[in-house]
Amino acid sequence: MKELLLIPGPTPVSDDVLKALSQNTISHTDDRFVEVFIKALNKMKLFFGTRDGQIFIIAGSGTLGMEMSLTNILEENENLLVVSHGYFGDRFVEIGETLGLNVDVLKSKAGMHIDSSSLEDYLAKKKYKAVTFTHVDTSTGVMTNMEEMSKIIKEVSPDTLIVLDGVCATGGVPEKMDEWGVDVVFTGSQKAIAVPPGLTMLAFSARAVSARKKMEKMRTYYGDILRWMPVMENPYKHFATPAVNMIFALEKSLDGILGQGLDKYYEKHKMLATLARSPIKAFGFNSLADDDIAAPTLSVFIYPPGIDDAGFRSLLKEKGVIVAGGIGELKGKCFRMGHMGSIAAEDILHALKCIEQVIKEKYM
Ligand SMILES: Cc1ncc(COP(=O)(O)O)c(C=O)c1O
Repeated sequence: MKELLLIPGPTPVSDDVLKALSQNTISHTDDRFVEVFIKALNKMKLFFGTRDGQIFIIAGSGTLGMEMSLTNILEENENLLVVSHGYFGDRFVEIGETLGLNVDVLKSKAGMHIDSSSLEDYLAKKKYKAVTFTHVDTSTGVMTNMEEMSKIIKEVSPDTLIVLDGVCATGGVPEKMDEWGVDVVFTGSQKAIAVPPGLTMLAFSARAVSARKKMEKMRTYYGDILRWMPVMENPYKHFATPAVNMIFALEKSLDGILGQGLDKYYEKHKMLATLARSPIKAFGFNSLADDDIAAPTLSVFIYPPGIDDAGFRSLLKEKGVIVAGGIGELKGKCFRMGHMGSIAAEDILHALKCIEQVIKEKYM
């Protein structure tokens, strides 16, 4: 029985991408690799919605992207505002505190989003060097309205740098770095981009690069964008060995997505979310986030009374369908279903059939 991996990352990887991953490893300064690296860097610009942003592709998971987004623009004791819609928003607080920043948090209730007036209030009361947003918080399925949020920042505090965590969003929902005036956006390879875990891709605006250049003390070596910039501008240069095969896989996947059309790919994600949500709600589950703020990339379903998390997920696993449990304060209360990347409508229909069987066999 083939397993269907429907967790919100890592997501299934197509045979084409696996084939690209498994080709012979060649030198990181070989023309054939450099050509692919340059293509991947250029293609990432389209996913982040930037023309001139400086792209970085670095071995490490999304958390490295989170950390680099802060270490490269903020010095000790500077003010950071974290807008949190859940567990991954909160991670910015931990990273900020670890780095000795003055961190304030604007946190929503689980499944809700923060309203624009509270952001305005925070920005009016204190000067923040940067504000972080999580485009889609993978613990709650809430999507941030970045157009609205960035507009407020531009109006109330235009010098504040905007950091956007796109780990559970990039590729699955449009990101418009230049239009929104985002200064740092990053993602991971293992979600809507449908590559195995292992890479973080980032884009820094000119303002963010200049913030790094002005910093007096750097507290990261591997994650310092100034060490990586020469390599990203000319991959024949060397700083630390790039993940050659992962970059082959990334370029293959980006190429496949762009071949289908990025807008079509975004539409596919919306369609999959709709396909999954109505029937699961009809089984008695509640969607944690209301439809107008729920992300197209994953759904978070609250169990109805009588359905236990461990039992439900293990019975579903016996049928070959893997979904994730709740995390943080939602542990045990919900299951999370990813519907992003290479997932197709048939996969969702198959999962729905299995969920129905589990409910009929065990819970009715
Ligand atoms: C929104 C978000 N940010 C950051 C991370 C951390 O990424 P990683 O697990 O690749 O370090 C995740 C992981 O799921 C995530 O969903």
